[in-house]
Amino acid sequence: MCGIIGFTGQENSVPILISGLYALEYRGYDSSGISVFGEDGIITKKVKGRISNLEDKILSEGNLYSECGIGHTRWATHGEPSDVNSHPHFTENLSLVHNGIIENYAVLKKELQSEGTAFLSETDTEVAARLIDREYLICRDPLKALNKALKKIEGSYAFGIIFREYPGKIFTARKNSPLLIASGSIGNFIASDIPAILKYTNKVIRLDDYDTAVISKDSVEIYDKDGNASTREFEEISWSYEIATKSGYDHFMLKEIFEEPEAVLKTISGRIKNGIPNFSAEGISSERIEKVGRIHIVACGTAMHAGIMGKYFIENFARIPVDVEIASEFRYRNPILNKGDMFIALSQSGETADTLAALRLAREKGLYTVSVVNVAGSSIARESDEVIYTLAGPEIAVASTKAYTVQCVVMYLLALDIAYKGKRMTQNEVMLATEPLVNEVSMRLSDVLGFSGYVSDICRRIAECENMFFIGRGIDYALAMEASLKLKEISYINSEAYAAGELKHGTISLVTEGTVVAAIATDASLWEKTCSNIKEVKARGAYVILFCGDNIDVPEGICDSIIKVPHIDGGLSSLCVACAFQLFAYHTAKLRGCDIDKPRNLAKSVTVE
Ligand code: AGP
Repeated sequence: MCGIIGFTGQENSVPILISGLYALEYRGYDSSGISVFGEDGIITKKVKGRISNLEDKILSEGNLYSECGIGHTRWATHGEPSDVNSHPHFTENLSLVHNGIIENYAVLKKELQSEGTAFLSETDTEVAARLIDREYLICRDPLKALNKALKKIEGSYAFGIIFREYPGKIFTARKNSPLLIASGSIGNFIASDIPAILKYTNKVIRLDDYDTAVISKDSVEIYDKDGNASTREFEEISWSYEIATKSGYDHFMLKEIFEEPEAVLKTISGRIKNGIPNFSAEGISSERIEKVGRIHIVACGTAMHAGIMGKYFIENFARIPVDVEIASEFRYRNPILNKGDMFIALSQSGETADTLAALRLAREKGLYTVSVVNVAGSSIARESDEVIYTLAGPEIAVASTKAYTVQCVVMYLLALDIAYKGKRMTQNEVMLATEPLVNEVSMRLSDVLGFSGYVSDICRRIAECENMFFIGRGIDYALAMEASLKLKEISYINSEAYAAGELKHGTISLVTEGTVVAAIATDASLWEKTCSNIKEVKARGAYVILFCGDNIDVPEGICDSIIKVPHIDGGLSSLCVACAFQLFAYHTAKLRGCDIDKPRNLAKSVTVE
């Protein structure tokens, strides 16, 4: 969703802000803008569309040099994407960028209008700008004015603000929307997200909710929720700038799929000791696990699909009942939550508003909360009792790939950990189950990547269709759901995932000559049944693509195309199939000429409910 970057230092801020905005593009946006200090006050340039439009505008309107400024990519919530609705929003005294939503903006707007304030845009953000401005006109003190305004604002915000009378300074505040301060050799930064500053520094301070801060080229002042000055240490981010670039790949998505073998190795490293999962560093103790009677896994989208994989692993290994739920449904249906229950939140970004809200509800009800998160220090990570980091590195493409794979890996390990601690599996059984994860998965994923070209050839047939089905049973049904989401989000082909045995209860009426059906079969114990379901659709003229393990004995003529992946014991072939269907979605979208890394209407981290 929206992105913020701000810089104050001893270099021209304009190219720095633009490069930060490009690094934030992946979050999804429909307009962008910057405000910088000019000789006679603040200069703002903002425009609907791509950041290149903003660059063109800046270039065509003359030379712009300023050592301090703020920038923003907007993903429309209040008011259509347009030049006037894009950020920064400005008054005579200040210019402001905002991530989040001002929930009581309508009331505040009325109040300001009744005092004679005129508005240019339809946004909630302009209300914040004008409210702060009103307070500033009274006290002429930016921090005081900001604090006064914040008392009136309900909702979520990360603000970056510059005041005409305070050149070289950037004022910030955050609540329920991430914001960090970074420090580098050329100056200081604010940003909503790490990739925005990685080109210049890896030293960051993540602000807490209700913090305010002021940065200048050589100082950082942070104030806590009570307004007291607060000293914070900078942390060093291990992500490098290179890892947040395409490194020669056509798209981030493809690069990230190719990073899966390494991401798996990193994620399991140090977490398996003598063949036994070990999450002691994360604080997951036997005492806590022994008490767990029920597990709730809550997440959104792809992360929720990894949660379904987790259900299969946990119920299979640990025999503890698991409910998996979409976060946006969970909190509004008055779920039955008992104190001894465990709550697992899965989230790549760690900032998904629905998942965060569900986590807060679980905490309120006294559940033991564990999050599986990819972004260190993110809100979900910080608000959980324990956090298990997936070590996938930054995921830039909107479509989640490597993060999903390592979420599944963590769920597999966690399931074994719970089973072992709960004495549901012996040491030997657990060791047998971790062995292929340690010795095979990464290598076999590399094998799958090796036939990316073959997958691309199969996609030629798919690229022409507008509808298709994915079917599977058991864990293969969980995979089918993710395969279907992946394909539709980037190729815009309508696809549905069905439990293979369920088609005949209604939906098979849609299968006619040429309908494309992709069947997934990694579980040999279910193959016979899945095979019958494939025959049912084949008999009605379907064009069948089979994704299966190479242990499956596929009868002649059962499918039209086949993508065979290496079999790995313990349900781990699923990871190879996931890699294959991610390539399948990628190549299909590429053949259709889609904007793969930034599909329409989507944002990388969904920070609104
Ligand atoms: C994945 O391809 C999607 N873009 C989306 O479903 C995503 O997984 C979902 O929004 C959850 O995000 P999170 O993992 O950052 O919480």
